[in-house]
Amino acid sequence: MVPDIEIRPARLSDIPEMARLVAALAAYEEALDERARYDWDEIRDAPSWLRVVLSRDHHAVWVADSGKGLLVGHLWVRLYRRREGGVPALSGYISQAFLEDAWRGKGLMKLMLGDAYQWFRAQNVTVVTLSVLHRNWLGATAWHRLGFADWREERRLELRPKRS
Ligand SMILES: CC(C)(COP(=O)(O)OP(=O)(O)OC[C@H]1O[C@@H](n2cnc3c(N)ncnc32)[C@H](O)[C@@H]1OP(=O)(O)O)[C@@H](O)C(=O)NCCC(=O)NCCS
Repeated sequence: MVPDIEIRPARLSDIPEMARLVAALAAYEEALDERARYDWDEIRDAPSWLRVVLSRDHHAVWVADSGKGLLVGHLWVRLYRRREGGVPALSGYISQAFLEDAWRGKGLMKLMLGDAYQWFRAQNVTVVTLSVLHRNWLGATAWHRLGFADWREERRLELRPKRS
């Protein structure tokens, strides 16, 4: 347990703070790998699209609240419905998980994931997946410790214009 931090579902009044955490995660990933790039106009617009996320039944967000008007982390999950024959047709997906530096490694994500698993189970989800940057060694290690096994690799090729 981390004293003074409350894990709870996100509410609309959290949006300014959540937008700050969304931007912090984008900056964190950009610093890890020069290929990871974000559209910062879209990141700046997070307050408007987070409002949509919070209103959708197939998305759920939990926050770690310091109680001083500041959030120290968030977990955003969603349901993912496959339509090309793969099973299970419905699975869970971790869209974003982030804790500020000083609050990492204290079990807060484990607590938020516990709430997310409960939400997933209530919707008959039996599989949860996520994607982590290959160069995010700390995040990748934490996900292993949290029980996520290597399963599928995502590969990338930079497609350059063909010389004529
Ligand atoms: C990855 C992240 C979300 C994990 O959250 P967290 O609250 O730090 O994780 P927890 O404290 O709940 O730890 C969960 C497990 O991972 C382990 N762990 C956490 N950080 C670790 C690290 N840096 N190295 C090794 N193990 C680590 C913990 O020991 C724990 O395992 P245990 O129960 O067997 O001891 C968080 O560290 C973070 O925000 N990192 C930066 C952003 C990021 O990488 N986000 C994920 C993008 S895909």
